[in-house]
Amino acid sequence: MNIFSLTQEIAIDLGTANTIIICDGKIVVDEPSVVAIRKSDDKMIAVGKKASPMQDRGESKIYTVRPLRKGVIADYKACEMMIRGLINLIPQRRHFLNPAIRMVVCVPSGATDAEIRIINDSCTQAGARELYLIYEPMAAALGMGFDIEGPEGCMVVDIGGGTTEIAVMALGSLVVNKSIPIAGDALNQDIVQYMHSGHGMRISEPTAERIKKQVGSALVELDNPPEDMVVVGPNKTNDLPLHVPVSYQEIAHCLDKNISNIETAIMQALGDTPSELYADIVERGIFLTGGGALLHGLAERLTNKTTITFHVADDPLHSVANGTGIALKNLKNLSFLIDGIR
Ligand SMILES: Nc1ncnc2c1ncn2[C@@H]1O[C@H](COP(=O)(O)OP(=O)(O)OP(=O)(O)O)[C@@H](O)[C@H]1O
Ligand SMILES: [Mg+2]
Repeated sequence: MNIFSLTQEIAIDLGTANTIIICDGKIVVDEPSVVAIRKSDDKMIAVGKKASPMQDRGESKIYTVRPLRKGVIADYKACEMMIRGLINLIPQRRHFLNPAIRMVVCVPSGATDAEIRIINDSCTQAGARELYLIYEPMAAALGMGFDIEGPEGCMVVDIGGGTTEIAVMALGSLVVNKSIPIAGDALNQDIVQYMHSGHGMRISEPTAERIKKQVGSALVELDNPPEDMVVVGPNKTNDLPLHVPVSYQEIAHCLDKNISNIETAIMQALGDTPSELYADIVERGIFLTGGGALLHGLAERLTNKTTITFHVADDPLHSVANGTGIALKNLKNLSFLIDGIR
C-alpha cells in the first residue's frame, strides 16, 4: 500500500456468523458478526470478539445484535455500525488521512435486488466510495484457487451460518445456483431443541454452537469419534443445575433432518446441471467450504449420498474472504463483478 495514496482498498466477507476483512492481501480482521449497543443512546459499545461474550448474558443496559440473518442484512443500522467498527480495527487504517475506501463485498447468490441495495447502502454509509459486489460461491471458488472464467465446470457447496449456497460455475457465470436458509444457525437450533426435549435442559445458542463444534456429527458412526461432552445448564422444569454427557451419536440423530435437507438441495442442483458440466464435476469432485464443512463426517456423508467425491477446502472459514481479496486485486480483469453504488 502506498502511504500517500488517498484510497484504501479492502475486501469484506460479510457473513451471518463471521465477518472477515482483507487488506494488502492479508486477513486483518476476523471477528464474529455481532455488535453490542447501549440501550440509553443506541451507541455501539463493542463489536466482534468483544461483543460476542455479551450475548445472552441478561445484561439490562446493553443488547447485542447479529445484524445478518440467513445471509442477508436483517438490521440495517446495526450492520452499518458493525462494518464501521470492524473497519476501524484494521491496523493499517489511516484515521488521520481518512482515505476514501474502495471495497469489494460478497453477496449471497440468491440475494434479491432489494437485499443487494441494502448491502450497497450499508457499505456506503460505512465509508465506501467505490464498491464492487461478488457472488459468494464465485468468491469461494476463487479463494480455493479455481479459474472460474475457464470452460470447465466447478461445483461449490458453502455451508455458512445463515445459508447453504450450492453453485455450479463455468465461463465466469453461475450456471446453477441454489441458496437455502439451512446452515450452521439452523443446526444450532436443532441442538437447542434436542437438549430441551431430550435432556430437559435449557441452553443458549452459543452453548449449542460449542456442542456442535465439539461433538456435532453428520454420521452416527465415525472413524475417529470425539469424546462425549459434559454440558452444564438449568433443568427446564425446576432450574436446578444439570450435568449431561452428550455423545456425537445423539447429535448426529438430532442434526439428521436438516442435513438431509442440504442433501436434497445438492441433488436438485446436480439435477439442474447441464450434462457437459456434470461430467467435469464428477471428474473433479465437489468442493465443500464455509464453517459447516468442518462438521465431523459431513464430506463422507455427502460423498456416499451423491457418489461424487466431496473435497473439504483447506481453509473453509476463509475461502470466500480469500476469493474476495483476489477479486479486489483483479478488479479490471474479472467479468463477473457487479458494480455497487448506483
Ligand atoms: N468445527 C465446526 N463444526 C461444525 N460447524 C462449525 C465448525 N466451525 C464453525 N462452524 C460453523 O460454521 C458457521 C460459520 O461459518 P462461516 O464463517 O463460513 O459462516 P458465514 O460466512 O458467517 O455465514 P453465511 O455465509 O451464511 O452468511 C457457524 O454456524 C459455525 O457454528
Ligand atoms: Mg459465508
